[in-house]
Amino acid sequence: MAVEYHRDLMSNIPNNRDAEYSIAKMRWRMLARALHEGRIQDSLGFPGSVRQFSTFGLIHMMPSDDVENDNSKDRWLLCSCLEEPRLKLKIRLLSGKITTDELTGFDNTGNICVWPSEEVLTYYCMKNKELFGGNSVCELGGGMSCLSGLAVAATAGAKEVFVTDGNKRCVENVQGIIEQNLQYFGATQVVSRLLRWDVDEDLTDLKSRFDVVICADCLYYEDGRHALAETIWKILKRDGVAVILAPTRGKTFQYFIDIVVKDFHVERVVSYDTHVWDLHCRLKERATKYDEDLHYPQMIILRKN
Ligand SMILES: C[S@@+](CC[C@H](N)C(=O)[O-])C[C@H]1O[C@@H](n2cnc3c(N)ncnc32)[C@H](O)[C@@H]1O
Repeated sequence: MAVEYHRDLMSNIPNNRDAEYSIAKMRWRMLARALHEGRIQDSLGFPGSVRQFSTFGLIHMMPSDDVENDNSKDRWLLCSCLEEPRLKLKIRLLSGKITTDELTGFDNTGNICVWPSEEVLTYYCMKNKELFGGNSVCELGGGMSCLSGLAVAATAGAKEVFVTDGNKRCVENVQGIIEQNLQYFGATQVVSRLLRWDVDEDLTDLKSRFDVVICADCLYYEDGRHALAETIWKILKRDGVAVILAPTRGKTFQYFIDIVVKDFHVERVVSYDTHVWDLHCRLKERATKYDEDLHYPQMIILRKN
């Protein structure tokens, strides 16, 4: 299948980050740093991971103490968005400390922060809510907040929203978030669930179930890309659509397109929202710590043919 390039204004920009991001290297680098410094800071082991740029300011997050039955030291934030006044979601950010046990276990990047791609995806969902009304929706790799999926569940009148990740700690945190926001979900059924793309049993009851799949910043991991593509294929209905946002991160974004183009109809959209594009252009011009390769999420839209 051909890839459709939409307003692909950046396709000619040379990209000199050809390095592939191996998860093993990433973990060992983090582990070495943790052991060396005795702590792990708010940083990631994959290239460009030090969080010099953390938000586009599209979703406002204010500290919230209006939380019941939570004795953890983790921070709660109240999320809102100018585009959708009904969005008032409390999310819990896990403390930045990751134990060495966790480091050697499953990918922990979702426990570090809400990544800019997730923020932009949430904003995009709030501006395009008609995509979700009455539909079955699944967020894959939603991290510790699954902010996009929960924002959809709270505002878009979806039939059901599954918010998933392969990391147990993320899923437990998301369950805690759901419990604090029950009053917003109305008739939408919200399910948090451990879903690993490489574990077929995790999908058995989800095959061809979803009208819409959303996913943010999950393309960097070499070993995960094929399994992610297969998962999307399996869980999407025949006429379903997947909306994926991720920074190009070297060639990782293109590598994913190379995989999905074999089975899906693929659209790559660089400028999918005028406000986000405008912010991106201004940041590129003025913010020295903004690196479009690491921070600007491009969009992939997948449809089964
Ligand atoms: C960079 S984080 C992005 C999290 C969130 N979407 C965000 O942008 O804030 C990537 C997420 O993918 C999840 N992930 C990685 N490999 C996975 C797999 N094989 N199955 C399910 N989830 C996976 C990780 O647990 C992590 O939460």
